[in-house]
Amino acid sequence: MIVVTGATGTVGSEVVSGLLGRGEEVRALVRAGSAVPAAWGPRVEAVAADFADPDSLDAALAGADAVYLLVAVHPEMGTHEKNVVDAAVRTGRRPRVVLHAAAGLGQRPDGVRFLAAHAAGFDRLAATGLPWTVLAPNGFFQNFLGMAEAVRGGHLALPGGTGAVSYVDARDVAAAAVEVLTGDGHEGAVYTLTGPEALSHEEIAGRLGAAVGHPVTYTATEPDAALAGMLAADWDPWRAAGLVELYGLYAAGGAAGVTSDVEKLTGGAARSFTGFTAEFAGVLGGEPGR
Ligand SMILES: NC(=O)c1ccc[n+]([C@@H]2O[C@H](COP(=O)([O-])OP(=O)(O)OC[C@H]3O[C@@H](n4cnc5c(N)ncnc54)[C@H](OP(=O)(O)O)[C@@H]3O)[C@@H](O)[C@H]2O)c1
Repeated sequence: MIVVTGATGTVGSEVVSGLLGRGEEVRALVRAGSAVPAAWGPRVEAVAADFADPDSLDAALAGADAVYLLVAVHPEMGTHEKNVVDAAVRTGRRPRVVLHAAAGLGQRPDGVRFLAAHAAGFDRLAATGLPWTVLAPNGFFQNFLGMAEAVRGGHLALPGGTGAVSYVDARDVAAAAVEVLTGDGHEGAVYTLTGPEALSHEEIAGRLGAAVGHPVTYTATEPDAALAGMLAADWDPWRAAGLVELYGLYAAGGAAGVTSDVEKLTGGAARSFTGFTAEFAGVLGGEPGR
């Protein structure tokens, strides 16, 4: 039985669907009160648990053969990862743990809090002696769906400088996760999951514009101004500061590497950003049905 955490989210929901498609027995860790997707049906056992509540994690992980460990971005995300790792140890079954972290984990760049949190979770996992695999995806294409208003307005302003980023489709990340969770030979591997090319945010704006049918320009904002803008828009301060740090890594070219790990794991080419923008042109601001 495979336990999926973060199961209602962008990646986790696709992991659950993919595992069901393989005929796997799936238990989804779901926060009390969160909506369970109707598509899961009775084949998914949904168990209420919270990353901050070790007792609930013990109940959620009991009997697991493998765990997909994906935590949400949160000030306590490093502790949340450690809590799930510790619960995996307490099962006494030595489940395989597939840690969903982020690209750059191996390099451990200074001053990027999301990566520092994943590094803390990974260090705890590696020290347990449990069989582990790490998936380290780069930024998701899907992040741009949350910028649809800016795309509609024809202008993207981000603190990403001129650095290129090999963004990846979250569905490819999920497909890679399904392969690792159901296949053999992945113990001790760190897979860096990227799209097929690295694009600057200016190039990204250009492709978004081509998809929605009007020009979209890009302005590289200064980090301080970007942070001030997010705080004025009521962002959570910890998350906003973390995003500015991450874009600083992007600006410095620290997320530009392209790997073939998606293709190696899934057997199919990683989705392209151009294909993604065409698929989601309606959501991003183009005419419906385009
Ligand atoms: N976005 C990117 O570009 C990117 C790139 C690389 C790596 N990552 C990493 O990917 C992860 C986020 O993945 P995602 O975008 O798929 O996540 P997401 O869509 O934000 O979903 C988060 C999931 O975590 C659950 N959750 C939140 N707080 C919880 C708690 N206290 N206890 C139990 N469950 C909880 C949520 O459940 P509810 O339904 O209850 O809210 C949801 O299922 C982060 O670790 C991030 O560092 C992101």
